[in-house]
Amino acid sequence: MKKLWSGRFTQKTSGTVESFTESISFDKKLWKHDIKGSTAHARMLARQRIITKKEADAIVAGLQQISVSIENGSFPFSSELEDIHMNIESALTENIGPAGKKLHTARSRNDQVAVDLRLYLKDEMKKIVQLLKALQRTFVRLAEKNKGAVMPGYTHLQRAQPVLLGHHLLAYTAMFQRDRERFQDCLKRTDVCPLGACALSGTSLPTDRAYTAKLLGFREVSGNSIDSVSDRDFALEFLSCAAITMMHLSRLAEELILWSTEEFRFIEMSDRFTTGSSIMPQKKNPDVAELMRGKTGRVYGNLVALLTLMKGLPLAYNRDMQEDKLPVFDSVETLEACLEVLDGMLQDLKFNTERLSLTSGEGYSTATDIAEYLVRKGVPFREAHEITGRIVLSCISRNIPLTGLSLKELSAFSPKISGDIIPVLDPAESVRARTSFGGTSPSEVRRQINYFKKLLK
Ligand code: ARG
Repeated sequence: MKKLWSGRFTQKTSGTVESFTESISFDKKLWKHDIKGSTAHARMLARQRIITKKEADAIVAGLQQISVSIENGSFPFSSELEDIHMNIESALTENIGPAGKKLHTARSRNDQVAVDLRLYLKDEMKKIVQLLKALQRTFVRLAEKNKGAVMPGYTHLQRAQPVLLGHHLLAYTAMFQRDRERFQDCLKRTDVCPLGACALSGTSLPTDRAYTAKLLGFREVSGNSIDSVSDRDFALEFLSCAAITMMHLSRLAEELILWSTEEFRFIEMSDRFTTGSSIMPQKKNPDVAELMRGKTGRVYGNLVALLTLMKGLPLAYNRDMQEDKLPVFDSVETLEACLEVLDGMLQDLKFNTERLSLTSGEGYSTATDIAEYLVRKGVPFREAHEITGRIVLSCISRNIPLTGLSLKELSAFSPKISGDIIPVLDPAESVRARTSFGGTSPSEVRRQINYFKKLLK
């Protein structure tokens, strides 16, 4: 196959170089975006009278035909033609003749690959934003369904204070809200058209870059041709947004794994989203959640790979940049797969609300409520903390819960303690009382549910 750049070469490329430099094996993923970019470029060339209307029509029809053959699997991808750009261009010329040779006028693969990757990421990020939204909705639904359930809240993975299960679930909705906003923000900077920057310096031909950008649905045209072909910040931003989202998914996965252990028994995952053991017949394993936690490592790695790839590159385009695609594709696929599988898994999840409620009062979890009770009676907080600490210590030494102390025993610790302390020791009451903005009270959880319902409409 004749190389599109063969003019100044007298020897044939070595076979090892061909397989070493090819990217068609992975950048064929960009075919739709490449054809979209080329179609817009041809239209612009005709509008500017750089090529004729007839030539542009032939190019567009030829590209359409290639599109069909890629879709039905009959397109002959060739690694001799290096990448998706030259595979398509060379097939075009073969199919439509001389007009095909005019498509690459006032363009380079450097701006072409940049526009392809931006178009691809715009599509995928819009999809990810929708997947995150669906996940948030699922969390809101779960929160609403279980809004009355009290559970132990943790710090340091030690029982800390009772909280509402709905409150805990809504914490994830808030995390995914930030993720969604981050992707939306990244979308803004991805939505800039580099096509027409050519190799690095622009062109002497009378192009109209704004028109191409408009045809492609870009919000803006890149303002510096050198930067246009050198810049991969949008891909880096995408990879860091993906890494942060995966970190959230991994924390959630970790909780789901812990909560489904015999030791916790807070949740049960459905058979549809768990797997068995090849040797131990009794097992039901949370492999989906574990893989989600595990795949986070790869997504972090992809970010570090691209950061490292870019850090030593002089301006403008360098072939190193071809290595940007695999990490980007991998993070897109991994993140989308995680978001999709997680949504189904959550919808099937069963909460053991009885056990959650039973354990919510264990571990002296209402001790802070006693301290706040004393504060309300005029005791300075540090003193109240000290008094409550002594109450807890005495319970520990007698191996009884806070509710195991009589009113007489309790008031021996402070004259401020009277009969109205009794409800304070109840986890449900503790939760009800935490009405500060963003706190765990039913009224505040309701407020959050309403807020997200409106936001996610
Ligand atoms: N396959 C290349 C890449 O992905 C396309 C750009 C090649 N440009 C060049 N001057 N060799 O980066």
